[in-house]
Amino acid sequence: MKIIWQLFGAHITLSLIILILFLAWLFWPRKYKFIRKGLIRSCGLVLLGSILLAFYTYWPREYHKRYLDDQLSAELKATLLKQLADSIDFHIGMATSPGSPYQDLIAQEFNSVVGENHFKPGKLLVDAANWEFNFTAADKLMDYAQANGQRMRGHTLVWGKFPGMTFPSQWIEVINSAEDPKETMQGLIKRYIETVMGHFKGRVSTWDVVNEPMGGESLYPSIFSNSMGEEYIDYAFKIANQVDPECSLFLNEQIGDYQGPQGKAFLDLLKRLVDRGVPIHGVGLQSHQINRIHDTDALRQYIRAIGQMGLKVEITELDARLLLFGGEDDPYQAQGDQFRKVVQVCLDDPVCTGVTLWGVTDGANWMDGVPPFKWKSPNAPNIWDEDMNKKPAYVGIWEALKGAQTD
Ligand code: XIL
Repeated sequence: MKIIWQLFGAHITLSLIILILFLAWLFWPRKYKFIRKGLIRSCGLVLLGSILLAFYTYWPREYHKRYLDDQLSAELKATLLKQLADSIDFHIGMATSPGSPYQDLIAQEFNSVVGENHFKPGKLLVDAANWEFNFTAADKLMDYAQANGQRMRGHTLVWGKFPGMTFPSQWIEVINSAEDPKETMQGLIKRYIETVMGHFKGRVSTWDVVNEPMGGESLYPSIFSNSMGEEYIDYAFKIANQVDPECSLFLNEQIGDYQGPQGKAFLDLLKRLVDRGVPIHGVGLQSHQINRIHDTDALRQYIRAIGQMGLKVEITELDARLLLFGGEDDPYQAQGDQFRKVVQVCLDDPVCTGVTLWGVTDGANWMDGVPPFKWKSPNAPNIWDEDMNKKPAYVGIWEALKGAQTD
């Protein structure tokens, strides 16, 4: 049943081609027998091809969990990630939500947390028309972090990608009908940042001021960039810096290919921001590995290039989809090696001050809930498996942190 749903859900293009061929066959004048035969045959072929493709692509794969046969060393069991990170003044973080069933574990293992969703505009600004905020859930998370001595990364203030979650949908109309869209947008950004950063002032030490500004090689065409151009980024940072001059202000982005056009364009953007004197202090590299395994040598160079501009770096949303390692002899081990490499690259450059993971267990991971990722399993992108066993990814991070201990 799942496969059938996936076939029609994900193969929209192929389904459309099939439909067009079928309709063409249906309505083609009957006297052109040869053409009609061709149409219906092509239709059948595309249908067959798409069924095969669907089976190949979406058939859930399972990989042997060889790590379950390994004995974890007594030292690994006794020493937590947080202890290792604390002793080298490094942030090891986890995305979480208020009331998460993993709160005790997160408090033990991580010295930094980020709200997976609860600090986003969609959760905070509950009634945009009346500027009504609800901080209850975010405050609960904040209290939890403070009670456990964890740093809170604020994620995120200005994000123009998905109306509803990342900014209030009502703002589209507000901007579209504005006499002066630029000035109106400045007003929205200012009021939003002043309220939210003001609320958490002194408690949130690092904010992602702008999230995912890029759309490929250029700015993502959002209400923010459409009304203000690149200047919306400058403006958001300027306001954030005014509200809390003590806060570390980050620009957060997902780069798949650090040496590719988007990676280069993002570096150019950073250079322009720095040259214009924008109060930006750091860059968050999300590092979701969903469609490709990131080249860690390229990541190393990228971090260096950002550092040379005088900016800090954090890996902010690390996870890596298991399916990407499916061709390896031991996919779980290969995934673990990749986690180790990413953390190692960050540890190797003093500019890179922390790594935050985007999820605790494979049993509850965000990719399983979001199309199209959810259709290609296994995602299993986290460091604990669905039975809460430590995966090679946990061990990889632990080993990288252990190797960085100075005494
Ligand atoms: C994701 C959350 O993990 C999901 O629960 C939610 O449904 C969608 O957003 N980049 C980001 C994060 O900056 O905020 C996103 O988080 C993942 C991609």
